[in-house]
This record gives sequence, C-alpha cells and structure tokens, in this order.
Amino acid sequence: MTTAAMLAVLGALLSVSVSDAFAVLPTASSWSTKGMGTGTGSLRHTASARGAKTTTSMGADAYDPFSGPNAPLRRNNNNDAWVSQRPRPRRNRKSEAMRSMLREAVVRPANFIYPLFIHDEDFEVEIKPMPGCLRHSLSHMLKEVEEAWKFGVRTFVVFPKVPDQLKTNYADECHNPNGIVPRAVSMIKERFPDSIVCTDVALDPYSDQGHDGVVKDGKILNDETIMQLTKQVVCQARAGSDVVAPSDMMDGRVGAIRDALDSEGFTDVSILAYTAKYASAFYGPFRDALDSHPGFGDKKTYQQDPANGREALIEAALDAAEGADMLMVKPGMPYLDVIQRLRESSNLPISAYHVSGEYAMMKAAVERGWLDERAAVLETMTCFKRAGADAILTYYAKDAARWLCEDGLC
Ligand code: PBG
Repeated sequence: MTTAAMLAVLGALLSVSVSDAFAVLPTASSWSTKGMGTGTGSLRHTASARGAKTTTSMGADAYDPFSGPNAPLRRNNNNDAWVSQRPRPRRNRKSEAMRSMLREAVVRPANFIYPLFIHDEDFEVEIKPMPGCLRHSLSHMLKEVEEAWKFGVRTFVVFPKVPDQLKTNYADECHNPNGIVPRAVSMIKERFPDSIVCTDVALDPYSDQGHDGVVKDGKILNDETIMQLTKQVVCQARAGSDVVAPSDMMDGRVGAIRDALDSEGFTDVSILAYTAKYASAFYGPFRDALDSHPGFGDKKTYQQDPANGREALIEAALDAAEGADMLMVKPGMPYLDVIQRLRESSNLPISAYHVSGEYAMMKAAVERGWLDERAAVLETMTCFKRAGADAILTYYAKDAARWLCEDGLC
C-alpha cells in the first residue's frame, strides 16, 4: 500500500476528508523538543510552521484554535465553533427529566435503617460528637420512631447504654428478658406492627471488659462468646425482633445463631450479618455514646484489618453458607470498594453502615459552614446505592428521608 492510500484509509476511519486527514497529521518539522530540556524525550507541538498563531484584538500572539495542522476546532455550517465529537455524554444529562429517566441508583426512605441509642432513664442525653443524635428514654424513642415513620422510614435498630453495675465478663444482661432491648423491641412492634425492628447481637454494651466477647487471659474467646450470643438472639426473638444483626465478628456465629433461632421456632427471624466489619477508628463517637470503649487493647483480633479487601470475600462466603439473609459492610464511605466486591461476588442483599465517625465528620464540616448538609448527605446515600448497597444504616436516616420526601421521592 502506498503512503497516500494508507492516509486515505486513515481518513475514512476518522470520518474526515483525505485532505483533512493530511491536515491533521503533523509534519516532522512541526514537532520539536524546544524548551523541554534535553534528553527527556518528550515532544511539544509548536504549531508555528502552519500559523496557529494569529493576529486578533488580543494581540499578535493570540492562539487561534481554528488554524494550524492540529487545530482542535472546526466550523460547522452555521459558522459556529465545532469539535467534531459524535458521542456526547452530556446529551443524557441535558434536563432533569432526562437525568431522572436514566438515573441508575435511586435511594428511597424505605432503604434506610435508623439506629436509635436508648437508655433506661426518663430523660434524653445529647451525644456530643454526634450532634442531632440523642440517647433516648424508651418513651422518647417511640416518638422518634413515629417521626421517622412519617417520612417513610420503616426499619430501626436499637443500641442500649447499660449501667456499669449490670456489666460482667459473660455479659449475661444481654439475655435478660426484662432488659432494655427486649422492652424496646416489644414497645416498637406493639405500636408499629409493620415496622422492621433489628437488634444488635454483640456483648460489648454488657461487657465489663468493653469487648464484643468473653475475655480470658487477655484473649477474646470465640466459642464461649457464641454460647452467649445464642442466648442473646433467642431473647431478642422472643421479644419480637424481626432481624438480628451480629456485629461481633466471632467465627461461626451466623450458623450457631441460625440454629439457635430455628430450634426455638424462629425460622422467620432474619440474620443481617456484619460480614465485613473492620477494626476502624470511625467507631469512636458510637463508643462515646454507649460508653463502650474497649477496656484494654483494641478489637483487631476479631474485626478485620482495614488493609484487607479479599478477606471480606472469605467472610461473605462463610456468612452466606451459614445462613445469613443479608450482608453488611462497615464502615461505609471509606469501604465502597468492599461493597462493590461483595455485590459482584454475592447475590445476597447488602447493607452499608454509615458509621458514627462518618456522621460526626459531616456534622463538623456542616457546623463550620463548609458543606451543604442536605446535598452532601443525599449524595453520600446515592453513592452507597451506586456501589451496590441495597439498604443503608445511617444516623441521618430520618433527615435524609425527610429531604427525599420534600423532593417527592418518598
Ligand atoms: C459493637 C458495635 C459498634 C458499632 C456498632 N456495633 C462499635 C464497635 O465495634 O466497637 C459502631 C457503629 C458506629 O460507629 O456507628 N458491636
């Protein structure tokens, strides 16, 4: 093939005339390394050979994007500036109607799980690092549920603050049928029978060691802990819990919990497994809220290393095999890749936990006037959906649901 024939083919491929094809090819003389130092090998196109510089009102050296061998712009039939660009993704963004027709990820209030801190007092306590969140009395908790319900929130999870004198190493208060959690669950179910009430399964609120498990010689005992968790879930199920959510990260707990529930006739109670729960610095405000900081050490022998993504797939496969109905990734925003990996490797529903530290960060920026709260929160929720989450556990549930309702997305 001759050079001219090759250029003709190239021109056809580029959908421009052969003369244009010639025009866009730089000549050897129009490339130089001038001004780039020596030996870098980088090339800069000066365009000076074909007169891309032109004289305009801006001065003799003004750049003219329409002239020169590599002119980026052409003129269309109306003599308007034209980049010869056929695919233009902006066409699909040209109006709100178009954007909303084509939107991939949409959040609804029914996707939210609303966490509520509770205590056995007749007053409310503000949680300093979590502005807008309270430790509720049980009657105030019901008011909060009622408000959120109006905005379409249907799912709640309760987290108890337990007095120190009730805490022990075996955390036996976790299965007291008259404990605060069973009472809270039955109150919500009685008033809102169509709600979904979730209960956290872990020993830490009841542990005098501040750990999610039974401690012996400075170690967290896996199977002894599961023994307690099975008692805890049966107690929660008897009180009416719809979904038990083990957040402890012991090995084999999902299967044991499933068997415990089934053996007591609670085959309908679901398990939302904290599948990929990381040993994260973002839980600090939550531990302040419940006064549940680890009594010694940290939680790294049971919660996952933030550096590990593949490990989440091992946890997900085990949880699915053991009978989990839903998987959870926690924290949320820094772990969107983990949500996506679980989405791609499992067909189970996935929940993202937008944790206390993430909430605190946003509130802190909002208080300083550095973030538009409503826009930033709704964007965050949408991003969880886009990453592959179905449900979102967030302290913003009530506010975000209200904003969605205001936008007609209830
Ligand atoms: C404890 C538990 C924690 C959170 C939920 N359940 C804290 C922890 O693991 O230490 C943290 C949630 C948050 O930060 O919002 N089982």
